[in-house]
Amino acid sequence: MQRLNGSQLADLEIAIKLLRTGEIVAVPSETVYGLAADALNEESVRRIFIAKGRPFFDPLIVHVANWETVLRLSTPGAVAHRLAETFWPGPLTLVVPKKKIVPGIVTAGKPTVAIRMPAHPVFRSLINDSGLALAAPSANPFGCTSPTSADHVIDGLGDAISWVVDGGACVHGIESTIVKVEDRDITLLRPGPIPASAIAEATGQPVRFPNQTSSRTTTQPEAPGDLPHHYAPRKPLCVLPPEILGSLNQPATARVFFFAPAQLAGNDLVLSPDREPATAARALYACLHSLDRDGRIQRIAIAEPPASEDWDAIRDRLSRAAH
Ligand code: TXA
Ligand code: MG
Repeated sequence: MQRLNGSQLADLEIAIKLLRTGEIVAVPSETVYGLAADALNEESVRRIFIAKGRPFFDPLIVHVANWETVLRLSTPGAVAHRLAETFWPGPLTLVVPKKKIVPGIVTAGKPTVAIRMPAHPVFRSLINDSGLALAAPSANPFGCTSPTSADHVIDGLGDAISWVVDGGACVHGIESTIVKVEDRDITLLRPGPIPASAIAEATGQPVRFPNQTSSRTTTQPEAPGDLPHHYAPRKPLCVLPPEILGSLNQPATARVFFFAPAQLAGNDLVLSPDREPATAARALYACLHSLDRDGRIQRIAIAEPPASEDWDAIRDRLSRAAH
């Protein structure tokens, strides 16, 4: 895989040319790295699925640079527009009714399309200057931990793709919040950096939560990528109450805490010394990737995050990463 430098104009031009000629290119975003292709080019989109080993029933997010493109691809209502005005560019994905122009392979045959306007300056200029809407799932093999740096992309997808644009470490480090918006009805499909309460506040509408047990046990949940056993590192991972983790003493096991325990041991890691969930989210996947590469470690034991709303996204990812 070749690395392009996102802060070099000449390299960005190469990436734009590649995307315009139907290539797939891994790109940085403020959430996690994405594996991008022209959303309206079915053959290119197919290559994304193949490179990731992703099942074709799992639809992709389309990334845009302006509201005009949203209107070209979909028929969002007033509530979706309000959310876009409030949170875009940024880590919120809107699932809205699609128009015919969006190929069925992008939406896995669904009548809706997921759309996001990313905030990362490199991603934005790739979309703007290519003039393309870019379909992009996270740039990892299907089911594995999402990449938050170009090194993670190279580590995970190796020779499956040819290009990655390096835009540094991702600021949020966790995937976008996804909501489905049907007229005035808002349903949270995946928790993320933007909390449900902020979405309710911005729209004056309640946010519905789909029944979690059913969405985690069926093979075709509402957000089909959100299957159990997703986001997983290669090594076994378990989630334990912090006090139990604090007394765990097993060889070759890394203990990962969110907040510093009374006593730290050699392999211990602390993800948010400042107790902020955003700090923990930024560090979480990088920590899992580095433990995966660490030859001394065979198992990962991680503390249960607090039960409050601002930790929802982290709790969600950990519950699926455990195996
Ligand atoms: O932050 C993010 O969202 C990153 C960056 C690259 O934008 N992308 C990302 O994509 O996490 P991916 O493919 O790993 O996750 C997208 C999720 C999947 O669970 C998929 O099932 C769901 O979005 N999704 C996509 N289109 C959908 C649709 N029409 N209806 C319901 N769920 C949809
Ligand atoms: Mg993903």
